[in-house]
Amino acid sequence: MCGIVGYIGEKSAVDILIEGLSMLEYRGYDSAGVAVYDNGALDVRKKKGRLDMLRQLLEKEPVQGTMGIGHTRWATHGAPSDENSHPHTNGAGTIAVVHNGIIENYSRLKEYLGAKGYSFRSQTDTEVLAHLIDHYYMGDLLSAVQDALRHVEGSYAICVVSKDHPGEIIAARKDSPLVLGSGQGENFVASDVPALLKHTRDVYFLEDYEVARVTREGIDIFDRYGIPVEREVFHVEWDVQAAERGGYPHFMLKEIHEEPKALQDTLSPRINAQGDLNIEGLGLEEEAVRAVRRIVIVACGTASYAGQVGKYVFEKSLRIPVEVDLASEYRYRDPVVQEGDLFLVISQSGETADTLAAMRLAKARGARILAITNVVGSTISREADAVMYTWAGPEIAVASTKAFTTQLLCIELLALHMARIRGSMEQAQWQALFAAVQAIPAKVEAMLEAEDTVKRCAHRHSNVSDAYFLGRNLDYPIAMEGSLKLKEISYIHSEAFAAGELKHGPIALIEEGTLVLAIATQKELYEKMASNIKEVKARGAHVLAMCPGDAALILDLADEVIELEDTQALLTPLISVIPAQLLAYFCSVERGYDVDKPRNLAKSVTVE
Ligand code: M6R
Repeated sequence: MCGIVGYIGEKSAVDILIEGLSMLEYRGYDSAGVAVYDNGALDVRKKKGRLDMLRQLLEKEPVQGTMGIGHTRWATHGAPSDENSHPHTNGAGTIAVVHNGIIENYSRLKEYLGAKGYSFRSQTDTEVLAHLIDHYYMGDLLSAVQDALRHVEGSYAICVVSKDHPGEIIAARKDSPLVLGSGQGENFVASDVPALLKHTRDVYFLEDYEVARVTREGIDIFDRYGIPVEREVFHVEWDVQAAERGGYPHFMLKEIHEEPKALQDTLSPRINAQGDLNIEGLGLEEEAVRAVRRIVIVACGTASYAGQVGKYVFEKSLRIPVEVDLASEYRYRDPVVQEGDLFLVISQSGETADTLAAMRLAKARGARILAITNVVGSTISREADAVMYTWAGPEIAVASTKAFTTQLLCIELLALHMARIRGSMEQAQWQALFAAVQAIPAKVEAMLEAEDTVKRCAHRHSNVSDAYFLGRNLDYPIAMEGSLKLKEISYIHSEAFAAGELKHGPIALIEEGTLVLAIATQKELYEKMASNIKEVKARGAHVLAMCPGDAALILDLADEVIELEDTQALLTPLISVIPAQLLAYFCSVERGYDVDKPRNLAKSVTVE
């Protein structure tokens, strides 16, 4: 949440800051602002609303200079307003701060500073930090930031500039990501790599409690005790185009269309020259796999639904128990970590605050952590014991799509790998599943051909106020994911039910014309799903079914059908989620919403 950019060099800082912020707007878009050093002063411009509002302000009131910081906000403390926008300054306007995170003890600090005569203009926790740095400032900005941060509780990624230090930006982090970009005679700071890609691919990842001094000539990193740290430069492989819309009207549609390639890119490195499955370097060699007694999966949002799919896939193929927990629940429920647990963390960004905290808790209790993540260099990837990357490329749209399907693929590959070692699947069954996994990118490509059909469905139904998804077994997590997708970008009220639960309460919601989306891919459950469809139809529901062409029972009953590509039962989530993603996308477009930046949301949830 919140995007930060910093630039120091010879070029126009404001252009680089605005361009960087536009690449980070997915992190928050309530307000935006910049502070640029110009001729002995810090010029601050900030505005409530999208980045365009700031652009307009800058046209009227331009700023010049070659050093500055910028911010795009997702509000936590204080409603979106010009005053609450970042950067925040000390009283004299000589120090400016941008911040991502939450200063948890800000009330106490505010009281302390208030007693010393400081006054406050905003409702934010960040402004307190600007005054606290001022309080400790004795002529050395780096020391003032280090001293101030010693008194701060909570999470932060910050950039600080001062009119008295035109040659440096001070950056620091704890529990919120920050990347330092290295250039020639210029250097950069950003919350996320896409903001830097046009200028450099050589980056340093700042670690918790570290503080950096970024000058035109170089980057110096210090640990929490102020001791210089040697950090290896990391070369980012993503190219600029990967983080651009490339002719698509929205990132979400582009990312849905990238799914076949993302899946192939995730699959290929795990198949060796002989065409065999090859999972190495995860600490899951024979002995370790045989020792697993339970799998515990922890994640948030869409990633947690990938985990729910994992429960069905692992239990069916390995015959060992699987627990799936929301990270926000796991971290506060005094969880039991046992010998023989394989602890799986799933996170696209690798930065989600709750997932990170849950992972750290499990690790502190002795669990060995395997992370499935998309972002190389992310905090989760650095702190986990082993990482299985989803090679989906940058996912920019707030609504997760290609990250989800590649997470599912990683789960399927892990299940295959472990099943072979444990001998929990018959050879022929294993071979058939492995062959079907390799066919998935092509099947997903074929599924995308249903786009026009889904678009027509969206046109017919985008005006509904409620939509209910039903599914059983592996279709249940996809019902939940389809429902989340629909509500987060089209704002249609939606819920998902395990179809067998209908008669225990939810069926009371069905009335004449209620839209029910029935996902039915599990052949042995067609009859059960058919009964559920009859039950809702008898109460007036309009049923849109998503099922393979052989599901005659379902096809006969449904009012409308989106036909799914056929595949092995365990792989159906990779197929059935595609029309669910497209449906949410087209409903949002039909309703005229900003698909990539839905209200109240941000891409990377780095605060609790
Ligand atoms: O980066 P993560 O995978 O850890 O993010 C988890 C959720 O915040 C994320 O999946 C969220 O639910 C998406 N907006 C769903 O589309």
